[in-house]
Amino acid sequence: MAILDKHVVLEKNATLLLVSSLLVVTIGGIVEIAPLFYLENTIEDVEGMRPYTPLELEGRNIYIREGCYVCHSQMIRPMRDEVERYGPYSLAAESQYDHPFQWGSKRTGPDLARVGGRYSDEWHVDHLVNPQSVVPESVMPKYAFLLDNLLTPESSHIADVVATNAFVGVPYTDEMLENAEADWLAQADPDSDYDGLLERYGENVQVRNFDGKPGVSEMDALIAYMQMLGTLVDFSTFTPDASR
Ligand code: HEC
Repeated sequence: MAILDKHVVLEKNATLLLVSSLLVVTIGGIVEIAPLFYLENTIEDVEGMRPYTPLELEGRNIYIREGCYVCHSQMIRPMRDEVERYGPYSLAAESQYDHPFQWGSKRTGPDLARVGGRYSDEWHVDHLVNPQSVVPESVMPKYAFLLDNLLTPESSHIADVVATNAFVGVPYTDEMLENAEADWLAQADPDSDYDGLLERYGENVQVRNFDGKPGVSEMDALIAYMQMLGTLVDFSTFTPDASR
């Protein structure tokens, strides 16, 4: 065929082949990258997404500090086996308030993007204290010390942590910033007056003594974070916006 005959010229001339390849890659690159400069936002707004409560944010920081992401991903890919095992695939909006995101790149343990509500708080306490007590073959390390690490809003600098997240773009309102310490305390204490917390963050915020022990421990914060994971978007009513 004529076109194949002409291709021989390219294949026999290394410089011409190199220059042509670069040209093709450049065009491809521009087509992919240029539109991103003109789109204001590539993330679809999804109902239900809200900034993390101060206690959840605290738990998230413990999750990062302990390196849970080394063994756990938080990214359900849109493939049948993953969706069947873990639930609806992850949406971009679900990590839009994550600084940094926790998608992870390794699954020594299961994906945790939708672990919220899958187990009871007691299960999480038992599992984190001694994973092998609930899953005998588990290779997950023990995190019993989280129970003993008691926190106060001051010791955890929660007001600064929330303010820093607001600074990098998470839409915390002034009211949320002002009440960061109070909201942090309220979420871990079901006997407190937590109306303000629900008003600011929504009715679906879970208020409990997560570890069942007096005081607010790192265990409380970590479980508050995990029980929220993947529960903010209601997938029984969610329909993806096909125009994006
Ligand atoms: C060395 C790797 C490793 C690290 C680090 C690790 N895990 Fe795990 N995790 C596992 C494995 C393996 C499993 C599966 C067996 C089990 O349930 O213990 C698991 C299971 C879990 C489960 C149950 C998930 C499910 O759907 O059944 C949760 C929740 C969990 N890990 C949370 C954490 C948290 C929180 C941290 C950090 C404090 C952490 N893991 C750190 C390996 C790890």
